[in-house]
Amino acid sequence: MKKNNNIYGGLYTKKVLEIFKNPHNYGKIKNADGIGKVGNIICGDVMWLYIKVVKNKKGEDFIKDIKFETFGCVAAISTSSIITDLVKGKTIKEALKITKDNVIESLGGLPKIKYHCSVLAVDALIEAIYDYFSKNKKEISVDLKKKHEKIQKEKDIIEKRYKAWK
Ligand code: FES
Repeated sequence: MKKNNNIYGGLYTKKVLEIFKNPHNYGKIKNADGIGKVGNIICGDVMWLYIKVVKNKKGEDFIKDIKFETFGCVAAISTSSIITDLVKGKTIKEALKITKDNVIESLGGLPKIKYHCSVLAVDALIEAIYDYFSKNKKEISVDLKKKHEKIQKEKDIIEKRYKAWK
């Protein structure tokens, strides 16, 4: 990963702040094909990710539209926005390869203390794809299932803590 070349006293890069002020793909998709709902048990930030999936010319599932709603910090909003840019127009297979390092790199870096915020965005994507696979009775890999179960555990804790989130 490239060195964090941010200019705001070692905090956020210019790109992070620009995206925070003007996030892309913010909102909800009505009748979304997959919804990812995740939260961070430490800070309490929460995120919803919505995907619309169609077949491309090769017959592969691809993400035609993606939107998010995030209640969280600057990094949470910016990473949510950038993941929608990274994913839109990609096949599901390609989308599943996106990592938190890709997200951080696309933002020109994040303060280390904020790395966990990028995990929220990646987890929401995993959950939206898992939801799409489950609803459409598609085969789910062992790796995706494991990731989903780990994310679910955190979600259960948050739901117990914040009843209003359900
Ligand atoms: Fe919670 Fe950033 S501090 S996601």
